[in-house]
Amino acid sequence: MADDLKHPKMNSLIDPFGREITYLRLSVTDRCDLRCTYCMAENMTFLPKKDLLSLEETEMVAIAFIDRGVSKIRITGGEPLVRRDIMTLFRALGDRLGYGLKELTLTTNGTLLAQYAEELYAAGVRRVNVSLDTLDEDRFLKITRRGKLTPVLKGLEAAQRAGLKVKLNTVALKHDNLAEIPSMVQWAHGEGFDMTLIEVMPLGETGEDRFDQYVPLPDVRGQLEERWTLKDLPYSPTNAGPSRYVRIAETGGKLGFITPLTNNFCAGCNRVRVTCTGRIYMCLGQDDCIDLRAAVRDTDNPQAALDTALDRAIRKKPEKHDFEISANGQTSGVSRHMSTTGG
Ligand code: 5AD
Ligand code: SF4
Repeated sequence: MADDLKHPKMNSLIDPFGREITYLRLSVTDRCDLRCTYCMAENMTFLPKKDLLSLEETEMVAIAFIDRGVSKIRITGGEPLVRRDIMTLFRALGDRLGYGLKELTLTTNGTLLAQYAEELYAAGVRRVNVSLDTLDEDRFLKITRRGKLTPVLKGLEAAQRAGLKVKLNTVALKHDNLAEIPSMVQWAHGEGFDMTLIEVMPLGETGEDRFDQYVPLPDVRGQLEERWTLKDLPYSPTNAGPSRYVRIAETGGKLGFITPLTNNFCAGCNRVRVTCTGRIYMCLGQDDCIDLRAAVRDTDNPQAALDTALDRAIRKKPEKHDFEISANGQTSGVSRHMSTTGG
């Protein structure tokens, strides 16, 4: 049999704007052990656990996406490592590496990374994104409202020891870490970590004024350029997505900029997000979603039901997100928190 008959052309997910969806961000919990001021309210109400997809259901959703051409899955939250038995999902999806899935990764706040780094590596994870906004203990407590820095630093060390490549995600906050960003970059690159700076996005109520914390990243870049030589890295499969990367000549490290507000990055979007309750959001910045939970729980043929739901979802992927922070401080965002949709 001809090769292409043995492997019929995959029924890939192509949206109305011709973008092929190959990247799934899969949230496994809305809970977190921290309460970062830009992300959550001080007193968050979390979803009842019964509303969550079980890990088996989550796996079915992931497999349905892999069968439709998704080759990269990022496990997110909330904080994914606080979900009980989460390693069973990593191991199950890790078994699909090399069989449709090319990369399995996660975004974590690092507090439990020391405990899980080796198991993650054993499951096939090779890279992790760790959210870290400061290296100062007091400031860490202020930003996260309850966290300690030391476990995160231990987590980073453990990740490196286990062989995981680490990228730090740092949200630029005018009052909390703007002045510290150059020294964080220096430190990160010295440790062998890449780093990405992120503009604060208007997602969900936090009880804080986000505009007051918002810094346009082109300004930060300007500041860094006074000190260092930033060389734009060419656009490539690994330098696609919403982040623009530079190499800093003096530190040798890579630095990314995610600028949802100053620079719309939607044209190259290759991703969708699934929440821990099984809703697929085609865009972080829009409210439109499709519920996959009913499909997963379809007693007759969940696979077929999921496939149909994915077809419906892909047709609804919008051209671009809607959020903005305007000069007069008005924000227009979405009501969901990042921890609901998956970071
Ligand atoms: N704006 C920008 N970044 C956010 N994150 C969480 N909430 C927001 C927000 N409102 C970040 C986290 C993490 C990443 C997944 O998203 O710090 O690094
Ligand atoms: Fe937790 Fe990450 Fe949100 Fe902070 S930003 S509260 S670590 S989910």
